[in-house]
Amino acid sequence: MKPQYWFRWLSVQGTPRVVLRLQARRGDPFAELVAGPAGYTDPYPLIERLRGEGRIIRTAIAFATFDHELCRSLLRDNRFGVRTQESFRVPKSMTKLAERFPLPPNPVEPPSMLVIDPPEHTAMRKPVASAFTPRAVGRLRDRVESVTEELLDALPSDGSADLIESFAAQVPIAIISEMLGFPDEDRAMFLDWGDRMTPLLDLGIPWRVHRRALRAMEVMNDYLDRHIERLRRDPGEDILSSLVTTGELDDHALKATASLLMGAGFETTVNLIGNGVVQLLAHPDQQERLRAEPELWPNAVEEILRFDSPVQTTARTALTDVDIDGVRIREGDTVVLSLAGANRDPAVFTEPERFDVGRENAKDHLSFSSGVHVCLGASLARMEGVYALRALFGRFPELRLDGPPQRRELFTLHGYHRVPIRLGRRAAMPEPSVV
Ligand code: HEM
Repeated sequence: MKPQYWFRWLSVQGTPRVVLRLQARRGDPFAELVAGPAGYTDPYPLIERLRGEGRIIRTAIAFATFDHELCRSLLRDNRFGVRTQESFRVPKSMTKLAERFPLPPNPVEPPSMLVIDPPEHTAMRKPVASAFTPRAVGRLRDRVESVTEELLDALPSDGSADLIESFAAQVPIAIISEMLGFPDEDRAMFLDWGDRMTPLLDLGIPWRVHRRALRAMEVMNDYLDRHIERLRRDPGEDILSSLVTTGELDDHALKATASLLMGAGFETTVNLIGNGVVQLLAHPDQQERLRAEPELWPNAVEEILRFDSPVQTTARTALTDVDIDGVRIREGDTVVLSLAGANRDPAVFTEPERFDVGRENAKDHLSFSSGVHVCLGASLARMEGVYALRALFGRFPELRLDGPPQRRELFTLHGYHRVPIRLGRRAAMPEPSVV
């Protein structure tokens, strides 16, 4: 490990960590949400407390909002740009220090499209956007269905399994790996890198977690060099081959895009499937309703996304001074946008704490964000979610928990690390329906 990575941690993670931990100890609900165990076990009571403090609030590290209308409008407001961790009130000297120690190309730093503003953003998003349109994703339908069936067939015959490891993580990783031309046998390695690198989306992570993430990043960088070289010699039908062939992106940008698509392609959908299973098992009446009205499955997936958002939060930084409800946001200030809070805003969703697969406006959630950074993979994620959940509950009508599910210790991404299940009787595969 390069010693300079320690300085990097100190500048972008260590300083906010000290502030957040001090505030959390004093009982500050925002710090508890971002840095405490409640943030990943059950964030919703803290979110409601913070909602009660106003439409936009000032916290120790940034402004924050839990309001649907405000989150949506800030996501679409060109006076705001994407967050850089450096803007979370970290002293300038510290950020300068971090800049001296660049990291390999990765999903959470420029030129990754996730963290750059137009016009550069447009140039990074456009070359891959056509692979994720609803029509392009529609062509993957048979593949998603057969991957799902193969995985369900392979579940252990003694009927007990960890849902996440054996199913929820496998559907999205199989599909995105194929889309990017990665060999099947490398999937377990990607899952491991994903596990190590996702904490980088959070703020104030410990040094040990940061170090693990950067190690994975270095290994991934070498792997992507070799993969791109292979595709250059022998291109396939996949997205990366076409980027390599057209030469639209240089190698650095190509690797940032590849790592973003890989990570975003499975680290979020695994949570949609996992959170969905846990909610449906906790609400047998909703399972019953889906058995009686299977055409509700797409809406059920929207409700799962709303009710327990796989990405809980994002942030935007003011590009100029802006007044919101009489609160002055200065250029460079960051506003944390709680997508999970917006999704439970009572001004938009009646009885927001009720899980209702028939909810008419479930689709108004902000789980895929909004504006120029709206999730590129939303159609794919929706399709994977519907097929995976419908097939799982169709094939195993007696499915139940076999112990308490364990949450991942993450703040931004929200899902389970382990969900022990008993499968029960196997039923025949239900007829595919139009999704
Ligand atoms: C349930 C699953 C998913 C959820 C909840 C989700 C959520 C999100 C959110 C909230 C953002 C925007 C963050 C922001 O505005 O700052 C985003 C961006 C993105 N997502 Fe997803 N995502 C999911 C699945 C996928 C999949 C399957 C892919 C496929 C590769 C994908 C690719 C991307 C990409 C490339 C971006 C960056 C877009 C940009 O910055 O222009 N996502 N996603």
